[in-house]
Parts: sequence; structure tokens; C-alpha cells
Amino acid sequence: MGCPQGIAKRGKYGSFLLEKTELIKSMVTALQQNLKVPVTCKIRCLYSEKDTVALAKAIEGAGAAMLVVHGRIREQNKQEMGAANWEIIRKVKQAVGIPVIVNGGMSTYADCMKAMEYTGCDGVMSSESILEYPALFDNSRLYDLDQLSMEYLQMVEAYPGEADLKNVRSHLHKFLYTGLKIHTDLRDKLSDAKSLDTLKEVVAEMTARREAIAADEKIGWYYRYWNSMSIEKGTNSTYVFTDWNTQIKESPVLNKKSKKSD
Ligand SMILES: Cc1cc2nc3c(=O)[nH]c(=O)nc-3n(C[C@H](O)[C@H](O)[C@H](O)COP(=O)(O)O)c2cc1C
Repeated sequence: MGCPQGIAKRGKYGSFLLEKTELIKSMVTALQQNLKVPVTCKIRCLYSEKDTVALAKAIEGAGAAMLVVHGRIREQNKQEMGAANWEIIRKVKQAVGIPVIVNGGMSTYADCMKAMEYTGCDGVMSSESILEYPALFDNSRLYDLDQLSMEYLQMVEAYPGEADLKNVRSHLHKFLYTGLKIHTDLRDKLSDAKSLDTLKEVVAEMTARREAIAADEKIGWYYRYWNSMSIEKGTNSTYVFTDWNTQIKESPVLNKKSKKSD
């Protein structure tokens, strides 16, 4: 129950279900009673700590085996995404007995560890960051995105039929985002590519052009919406520990769209 898009609003699903506690409970109960596998849920947050914690407890009471909490309200999306709040996730974790997974704002392995430590959660979920940097959970070293891109293409070649070219191009656009912003000729070539060989040429050329650039500087897609909000890479500002009710009441971005508070 996290999708904030218009299509979810029209279809009355995703984050637009969040206020419908009784419906959520009946869905979780029906699934739990009829499936052989454990039922897990994922939520965004409601507009007060009390409502968010109550929803988590209702989901637990209905039989969910695990809960993922994304520390944002549904209005926090795209240019208004802002930092994820880990304090509200900590509160949910304290209130329920089932495993809770912290989600939102983790762009490095260190962030993931910090999120687990602060919230007391049982695991982390990453979405956008790991789409750009698939080695997020490998702390052994910082991988170079140009090299990872080539490795990815080799895997695509080794497992034919697993990914179509459209998806491959989409992944490469994320892996190579910072380079493609500068080398627009390569961006055009990538967008028009009709074969794996052409994609390999793009990656090889990007690798050559960025030889002198450090691996860390090649990461940036995850931050694409945040630069306009003065949230910068490396400043630990993709997450906050602010009291949830205070954040809802005080944040201009949230406040103008919040429907209710405690
Ligand atoms: C391609 C894509 C698909 C997603 N689909 C869902 C979804 O079906 N349900 C959901 O609750 N969240 C979905 N999300 C949101 C993420 O699970 C996650 O909550 C959000 O991106 C914040 O985490 P992050 O900071 O690690 O990206 C999706 C995100 C992306 C990028």
C-alpha cells in the first residue's frame, strides 16, 4: 500500500487504501486464511503517529507475518519526495511484535546499517537506490558503475530471453545516469540502441571517457529529485529522525497537503 500515482488513485489501490483500515484488515485476513505462504504488507505512513501505529497494529492483528514501512506520506513523491522519516518507523517497530522492515532514503550500505540500528527493524528494503547501484548490499568495496554496466550486459547475453531490450536500456539509463547527463551523444545512442552490441559500445565508450572519475562520483540517479530541495548526496539528509507529528505540522511541503493531524 505504497503507490502514490494517479493510476492508483483512480483504481483505489496502493497508498489510497491506507485510510481504509477495515478493508485492509479484511483483505489481510482473507489472504492469511486462504494462502499457504505468509502474508506480508507494505505501507506508507498516515498523517499522525497515532494513526500510523494503529494501522500497523491492525495489520498485525489481521494476521500479517511481516510489515514494511516506508517513512513518507503518499504526497511525498517525485520533486516533493523529501527525506524519509525513520522515527515513525521506530515507533511502529516498538508497537508490533511481527518483523518490521525499514524503507526509504537508504543510498549506501552505511545508511542501511544506520536505519536498522536506529529503528530496531529486522531488515531494510531499498528500491530506487538499488536500481541505480545493484551492489548496494555488498559492503566489500565500492563498485564502478561503468564496470557493473558491462557485467550486466554480459549477464543479459548469457541468459537470453530474461530481459527485453527496452528493460535493458532502462536499467542502463539509471546505472549511467551521471555520465549520460554530460555525454548526451551516448545518451542518444543508448536510447536508440536496437542491439546488445550497440549497448556494449555505449558502455565501453562511457568507461573510456570516465576513466579518471572516481566510482562514488558516478552515482547520482537516486538524487535526481532532491537537488531542487537542497538535499545533496553524501550529507545524510535523505532521512530524518524528527518526531512524526512535528514533521507533519511543521513541514511546508507536507503541511499544505496534509489532511489531518493529531
Ligand atoms: C519501479 C518502482 C516500483 C515500485 N512499486 C511499488 C509497489 O508496487 N508497491 C509499493 O508499495 N511501493 C512501490 N515502490 C516504492 C518503493 O518500494 C519504495 O517504497 C520507495 O521507492 C522508497 O524507497 P527508496 O528510497 O529505497 O527508493 C516502487 C518503486 C519503484 C522505483
